[in-house]
Amino acid sequence: MLNIAIDGPGGSGKSSVAKALAARMDLKYLDTGALYRALGLALKQRGVDPEDEQAVAGALPSVELSLEYAEDGRQLVFVNGEDLTPYLRTQDAADGASKVAVHGCVRNKLLGIQRETGKRFNVVMDGRDIGTVVLPGADLKIFLTASVEVRAKRRIGELEKAGHPHGSMEEIMEEIAQRDYRDSHREIAPLKQAEDAVLVDTSSMSLEEVIETVCSMVSSIRK
Ligand code: DC
Repeated sequence: MLNIAIDGPGGSGKSSVAKALAARMDLKYLDTGALYRALGLALKQRGVDPEDEQAVAGALPSVELSLEYAEDGRQLVFVNGEDLTPYLRTQDAADGASKVAVHGCVRNKLLGIQRETGKRFNVVMDGRDIGTVVLPGADLKIFLTASVEVRAKRRIGELEKAGHPHGSMEEIMEEIAQRDYRDSHREIAPLKQAEDAVLVDTSSMSLEEVIETVCSMVSSIRK
């Protein structure tokens, strides 16, 4: 199976790039952040404090997470049979995901589903620890990054497109910086570039340029 890992901070363009790559190169796409977001929302629905590790560990067995692909290739995430996909892209879901993602019990729960997808399909997976932990033997590892300012502008565009309310540019930059800090300073599986990953700084690249760069990397390893 062909396994491509794309890691990087929120707003670096990972999901747009991975989605386009999957469509052009006939791969499945696994958005691993969506799994953390769904788990965060499910815990919130149960009234669990995302920062209380014991409470999170206690509630986890009651959260049954599953993944399906719609006919158009879209990834759907179900919790106990309910499709949570429409609720995953809000700032609130992102924040909850980042908070629950620090716990080892949460990461272990999601590791199996991610690795299994890598074994079953030719897949491009995006996240924070795909190249370092989930798929250490991936055929290609890419680390996408961009400045906080550029990422905040992109995030605002994304939220507006989805019709979600959002705060000011300064507030979004602050949230992004906080999430970066939490994601890259946690003890378990922090956001980090794998030693054998290719770094792509997208700050001054258009989405199409990034997609073309990454597609040509994939084409060259597929030959
Ligand atoms: O990629 P995203 O913004 O949807 O991710 C939401 C949060 O989930 C992110 O802040 C940290 C966590 N996450 C993670 O810890 N590991 C991953 N592989 C993917 C996401």
